[in-house]
Amino acid sequence: MSKLGLFLILISFTFSCTHEPTIVETDTDVDAALIELLKAKSFTGDVDFYTMPSGNNYDYIPNQDPKNPITYPKVALGNMLFYETGIGMTAKKAESVATYSCSSCHIPEIGFTAGRFQGIADGALGFGHHGEGRAISPNYEGNEVDAQGARPLPVINLAYVRNPLWNGSFGSYGMNAGTESVWGVADPLTSINKENREGLEAVVTRALITHRQDINKELMDKLGYTALFDNAFYDIPENQRYTLQTASHAISAYFRTILTNQAPFQKWLRGDQNAMTESQKNGAMLFFGKAQCVNCHNSPSLNGQRFAAIGVKDLDQNDYLVYKTDDGRSKGRASFTLKDADLYKFKVPQLYNLKDAGFYFHGSSKTSLREVVEYFNNGVSENPRIEKYRIDGQFRPLFLTDTEVSDLTEFLANGLYDPLMSRYKPVSVYSGNCFPNNDVQSQIDLGCK
Ligand code: HEC
Ligand code: HEC
Repeated sequence: MSKLGLFLILISFTFSCTHEPTIVETDTDVDAALIELLKAKSFTGDVDFYTMPSGNNYDYIPNQDPKNPITYPKVALGNMLFYETGIGMTAKKAESVATYSCSSCHIPEIGFTAGRFQGIADGALGFGHHGEGRAISPNYEGNEVDAQGARPLPVINLAYVRNPLWNGSFGSYGMNAGTESVWGVADPLTSINKENREGLEAVVTRALITHRQDINKELMDKLGYTALFDNAFYDIPENQRYTLQTASHAISAYFRTILTNQAPFQKWLRGDQNAMTESQKNGAMLFFGKAQCVNCHNSPSLNGQRFAAIGVKDLDQNDYLVYKTDDGRSKGRASFTLKDADLYKFKVPQLYNLKDAGFYFHGSSKTSLREVVEYFNNGVSENPRIEKYRIDGQFRPLFLTDTEVSDLTEFLANGLYDPLMSRYKPVSVYSGNCFPNNDVQSQIDLGCK
């Protein structure tokens, strides 16, 4: 190399150090380092491993049930039924008929969560701003309301959930391979796993029953859904076309299209280096690196195909007025497998759009994402019910600094936040009813009256 050449390189080097805005340089460093880290942590050696498909191109949506491929007419129907208060026909009391829906506990504006520490559908009144104003009806006893002994899981990114519920009890495949002997034992409805189904198709039928909803030809005629069923299920004989099973297929198809693919981290993965802030990138570095969250949360939705006991409190151990906490859910995976070794293990949930949920962990024991991160950072169980030896070895003190806790929280809160979730919500439902709730107080709260 000529002396002049070397001189020019030195000059430009000096210039780049002193005159370029330092932020750009650091940015590039973090971006490159994050890419290397993601490659190392992904199962494929590729950053694309973490990228979600578009919700419109069904060919790229994973884990579809071969017996229920996603089609546009099914998604269109599921997108209505999920919010339709008109199918809430099997309420415990006449006053509540047609006043609640699936979405009573899965509200799109707050990441498809309930807005409360416990969701309540049949037997409650009101909505408030986003679910927080719902309260038990004075005419219902606590054991009559439709509520469960665990916090509702968000119904987003379900394309990555093969075994729904905190205990993963539904679905014939995934983590349920090898559990055949317990299908139908603790919960008779899990015998549906014997039909070789994906978890969503299996669990949604149960959800319709549990949440006191009905589907039949007469009701579909009345509410105006017959043509949508005919479009979606033209290949099914008419006498089997308007059932809980077909409704479950439509809702499952719709669910698999709900993807948080507009979150900053997803945009960054697709190559837009400006999509995430510096703090979010640092947080991502911690998530996949020093804090080792990725050891359990490792998929495009950052859920995980395993169950772990991390010692959080159950719903009844907090100071909330809760209903039906004796339904076995606080036993975790063991409530399905009946194995002592599975006691208090819960599935590793997805991590997108949690910012507005307001309540975290299966027992709603934390009320902010920062508290969640601090809980992981401390690495100490808070639940006296759980013997020490049951706590997962990967749950241990992380020694993160205050700034690191802030960056990691910022990555979760905003790096993993898709701000456009209302694209998955219909403008109205065919009955014309108020939704997601239709009792008189909710009608006022929701501006339907
Ligand atoms: C009363 C509140 C409530 C209503 C109404 C409700 N859910 Fe849920 N949902 C829950 C709770 C609580 C859980 C978690 C329960 C568990 O895991 O044991 C849950 C979990 C789920 C899951 C599992 C998600 C995952 O990641 O594993 C799916 C799917 C689901 N609900 C679908 C539905 C559908 C479909 C309807 C309407 C038919 C519905 N839900 C109505 C409370 C509700
Ligand atoms: C040992 C495996 C494991 C590790 C490591 C782990 N998690 Fe989790 N995570 C879980 C399990 C299991 C749950 C659900 C626990 C429950 O509710 O009982 C969970 C729940 C969460 C939740 C609450 C989600 C919700 O819907 O309530 C967040 C947020 C979260 N983890 C973030 C993190 C972060 C950040 C890290 C790294 C500091 C991390 N996790 C490390 C297993 C793990």
